[in-house]
Amino acid sequence: MTRKIIIDTDPGQDDAVAILTALASPEALDVIGIVAVAGNVSLAQNARNALKIVELAGRTDVPVYAGCERPMRRTLITAEYVHGDTGLDGPDLPPPVKTLEAQHGVDYLIEALMSHEPGTITLCTLGPLTNVAMAMVKEPRIIGRIKEIVMMGGAYFEVGNVTPAAEFNIYVDPDAADVVLRSGVHIVMAPLDVTHMMQSTPKRLKKLLEIGNKAGTAVYQMLSFSERFDLIKYGTEGAPLHDPCVIAYLLKPELFEGRHINVEIETTSELTVGMTVADYWGVTDRKRNVHYLRSGDADGFYDLLAERLARLP
Ligand code: BDR
Ligand code: CA
Repeated sequence: MTRKIIIDTDPGQDDAVAILTALASPEALDVIGIVAVAGNVSLAQNARNALKIVELAGRTDVPVYAGCERPMRRTLITAEYVHGDTGLDGPDLPPPVKTLEAQHGVDYLIEALMSHEPGTITLCTLGPLTNVAMAMVKEPRIIGRIKEIVMMGGAYFEVGNVTPAAEFNIYVDPDAADVVLRSGVHIVMAPLDVTHMMQSTPKRLKKLLEIGNKAGTAVYQMLSFSERFDLIKYGTEGAPLHDPCVIAYLLKPELFEGRHINVEIETTSELTVGMTVADYWGVTDRKRNVHYLRSGDADGFYDLLAERLARLP
């Protein structure tokens, strides 16, 4: 059965690969909208990148919205040092012809959830959780209507990538993450613990380039750019690949292993703000709110990406 999804994102090379994979899987995923959020780079640049990606996929029928330009309470932190000045450095994609929808992304989330049957829309979040939290605050009735939130964010065994304690998406807007994790919506979390297993080794990247289409070449160029920072940082053969884990989980959950646990967000400590405090070993009686993905099959994951990207122009 086809699952209706809305992708909330800050593209981002790895976001782009996730979006392309989703758009290449129409029999399983009906992408009803894409909402940009401030994160990797500014909101305006992320929104522009989202337009470029739908054009690359030949899917200009998918509406793109711009959401919040800063976190709920904190000052925006961006990551040009990883993703480049455009957030999508690597390929030379043409300026988008398609334009953004006029509606604010938060209002779109609310309208989409209120106008579809309850329990039919899955939110896929690939960036900070600002838009989703703001929508929950503005219209709490959406909370009971969301089928599931599948998010890239957090870390426990791998701990932090932006501070020693925190993963980027959660760190940028910990208050938003706190609202979402306390909402009671069923949440699947793809943290660094699993995304760091999905290493973009030279062999895997070459396979994507060998697809020979525009999308495969662009993905190769994007990931070759964004992996430079992580290769130096971690000294591994390939860089982690984060956001596509969300889409791969929806397409092939059997590629992943996880546990249903309690995860809470540190919002106040200067030292550990944005930490996802995961009760992986069940040492408290806190309510289980997250299906936490701990590991995954990297070869199966890259095979899936290659198979799907090959369907695109
Ligand atoms: C997350 O941060 C961003 O830089 C990536 O796009 C991903 O969503 C990884 O921590
Ligand atoms: Ca992202």
